Amino acid sequence: LEQVIALFQPKVLANQRVLITAGPTFEPIDPVRGLTNLSSGKMGFAIARAARQAGADVTLVSGPTALQTPCGVYRINVQTAEQMHDVVMSRVNTKEIFIAVAAVADWRIANISEQKIKKDIHGKVPTLQFVQNPDILAEVAALPNPPYCVGFAAESENLLQYGEAKRKKKNIPLLVGNIGPQTFGKDQNELMLFDANGQTYFPRANKHELARQLIAAIAARLAPHHEQNSNTLQSSL
Ligand code: C5P
Repeated sequence: LEQVIALFQPKVLANQRVLITAGPTFEPIDPVRGLTNLSSGKMGFAIARAARQAGADVTLVSGPTALQTPCGVYRINVQTAEQMHDVVMSRVNTKEIFIAVAAVADWRIANISEQKIKKDIHGKVPTLQFVQNPDILAEVAALPNPPYCVGFAAESENLLQYGEAKRKKKNIPLLVGNIGPQTFGKDQNELMLFDANGQTYFPRANKHELARQLIAAIAARLAPHHEQNSNTLQSSL
């Protein structure tokens, strides 16, 4: 069925090799506990599916999720941000497009306990030390010959302001913003695209539909004489 659906999709990414990160990362505290981010992986998996249906060769690097691998997509499972970083950096050189959708934990625990930390009956709590994780997207964007880099930003407010600032800070051509608490775990989302020409709003829709629109927008930006999508926005975001 997936292959029949794919037949009807325009092959706007034919012969393109795409690397996508998705899901959360999980940073262990001890063998039974950890630090993670809210992310179901649904948006990243939908983008992997849409890219594949658009004719791309897709590698999906996924943190822990319960989602099924989209048809025809090569998936590599990781747990921590460092593992995600290592897999991405070892594969990104051969890719034309990198889409970082994963909600990567900003910090990992420096003093991971080898054994389960026992709860103190007197209420004394353990002290955790944090180390900053590598910024995978920024590192890829800073490569001498980077692929076309697309980042995601999940904000809780001020999306218009934070979105463009983040795009510039990460030095990437395209950043996709969404309001985190309105999308986490849900099947629907709404997106705001930020690029050098301004903003484009994709109204609330199913994540699979939005993923197709995003893939079309990426393909249009990669095409040599692309027509700018001028859906320029008025939005409530
Ligand atoms: O800085 P912030 O986490 O908000 O940036 C979000 C974007 O950067 C997302 O595309 C995310 O996948 C990527 N990112 C990353 N490595 C990190 C943190 C974020 O690739 N350590």
